[in-house]
Amino acid sequence: MAHEVVLIPGDGIGPEVSEAVRHVLDEAGAPLFWREHQAGQAALDEGGDVLPDATVEAVRRTGVALKGPCTTPVGKGFTSVNVKLRKTLDLYAAVRPVRNLAGVESRHSDVDLVVVRENTEGLYSGVENEITPGVVTSLKVATEHACTRIARWAFDYARRRGREKVTVFHKANIMKLTDGLFLRCAQKVHDEEFPGVDFESLIIDAGCMRLVQDPSRFDVLLMENLYGDVVSDLCAGLVGGLGVVPGANLGDGGAVFEAVHGSAPDIAGRDLANPLALLMSAVMLLNHLGETRSDPDCRASAKRIREAYDRVLSAGLRTRDIGGTLGTRAFAEAVIEHL
Ligand code: NAI
Repeated sequence: MAHEVVLIPGDGIGPEVSEAVRHVLDEAGAPLFWREHQAGQAALDEGGDVLPDATVEAVRRTGVALKGPCTTPVGKGFTSVNVKLRKTLDLYAAVRPVRNLAGVESRHSDVDLVVVRENTEGLYSGVENEITPGVVTSLKVATEHACTRIARWAFDYARRRGREKVTVFHKANIMKLTDGLFLRCAQKVHDEEFPGVDFESLIIDAGCMRLVQDPSRFDVLLMENLYGDVVSDLCAGLVGGLGVVPGANLGDGGAVFEAVHGSAPDIAGRDLANPLALLMSAVMLLNHLGETRSDPDCRASAKRIREAYDRVLSAGLRTRDIGGTLGTRAFAEAVIEHL
């Protein structure tokens, strides 16, 4: 049985990488059929809302989407479609696995960690005010409910995946109430529900220093929204860049799979983008369907695609961002040839 999946191509490089990934999945015989919906600038260009109700409803109905990046104007204009989609569907857990790939040179060769980011509150609550000209505020929100559920998600993930340690990054020395609550909730969830998983907390500045010095000492990293956003890109830099790190936004309202990277306007429309991060996100999507809908065909497709891109990279076939010469389409074709 084929599963209906919403495809949101997105902006910038989004349509190019989405098309490449869809092509690979179709050629791999993944049991999916696509329902395309727009969001972001692409939706505005079609005369609709930046996040059309039809897109949200489609994800709610099907429960699963593959999403390209959406552009957000800097310092003005509409609020982030990405943040809005995650909040509307209450996709509270962003999970970003970061690991070395054979054939991709990077600073470290022993990285295998997972960033778990709280996706619905923190400084991304979007509550900003101009108190008086020249004075503005941005409200950081933390609730016991959201801090507890993301901590529970992270520890449960660690236990299910056989990971040994959860490290919380925080700044509770300065933000004693908000980050203090985040830290306390994580500690409580650990002590009461997951004492068998190691727990560690680090002030984020020192944590980042240790991360770039020795990423192998980390396993699952848990943090609030803004820190998770920043640290995800830092971790991508440890293994070759934004072209090789996938992600998923998970919650009770559905599952939206998207790469960590943005719409990369500097290279959009030039067949330069690496589709691998979105392809890896699609592999996560297939494994998610394999698990939640008990479909072995999804798992088999995921395995076939993963083995194919591993073979392609090992053969030295790469896009430019990771030291190769292939364009977006040629890389996708290479993966298809190695299926
Ligand atoms: P970005 O991730 O789009 O680009 C940063 C750098 O990495 C650029 O030099 C870009 O060319 C390169 N890069 C990114 N993805 C690549 C890929 N797949 N292959 C090769 N090179 C790649 O970050 P930036 O420039 O900060 O943001 C651009 C736009 O994307 C903004 O409007 C931002 O709001 C949006 N954005 C959207 C996200 C989403 O939809 N989930 C996530 C992050 C940013």
